[in-house]
Amino acid sequence: MARPKATNNKVEINSKRYIVSKTDADGIIQYGNDYFTEISGYSEEELIGKSHNIIRHPDMPKLAFKMMWDRISKGDNFIAVVKNLTKDGSYYWVITDFEPKMDSITNEPVSYTAFRKAAPQKVINKIEPIYKKLLELENEGGMKESEKFLREFLDEKNTTYDKYINDVVGNNGLFKIFFTAMKKIFS
Ligand SMILES: Cc1cc2nc3c(=O)[nH]c(=O)nc-3n(C[C@H](O)[C@H](O)[C@H](O)COP(=O)(O)O)c2cc1C
Repeated sequence: MARPKATNNKVEINSKRYIVSKTDADGIIQYGNDYFTEISGYSEEELIGKSHNIIRHPDMPKLAFKMMWDRISKGDNFIAVVKNLTKDGSYYWVITDFEPKMDSITNEPVSYTAFRKAAPQKVINKIEPIYKKLLELENEGGMKESEKFLREFLDEKNTTYDKYINDVVGNNGLFKIFFTAMKKIFS
């Protein structure tokens, strides 16, 4: 299937709803809730069995997904602000909590679930210019350049990625309550 060409059309996400998808250990989609399929523009049949990069937006820096995979494959969750691509080339911004499920005996990943909420505009305003810079650096010199920039950006603020993102998305308040509740429902 050809990749949709990204347009400037923004899809507004209902801030009261959540978008959930689940993959196997290789990132192949196994499940999506109704709102996931509705917003993506694809049917359930078109999504199940596909790599989750089917909704990858070209504006996303590679580094975001590298950091995410490094973390979840080791059994830790990862929160990120993500710009996604719909079937017709539109985009939408979400705050995503990626959660691994590990085998209790082997401690290897069994599946991953992503919980998403609409990203408020003030969150997008903070993250979008950083992603633009990371992508620009990746196009010029590869991921080692974007990694270096992010490390220096965080060092300068005397913070870590987790602290920074929790601060930007307000994960100590409402989002924390939401993600905790979602994990209970889906576990
Ligand atoms: C549970 C789960 C949910 C994911 N959700 C998204 C998503 O919403 N958007 C996205 O671009 N990638 C998502 N990914 C990451 C993709 O699998 C993939 O790594 C990413 O799109 C980068 O694609 P690429 O490696 O082909 O560049 C998800 C992965 C997992 C395990």
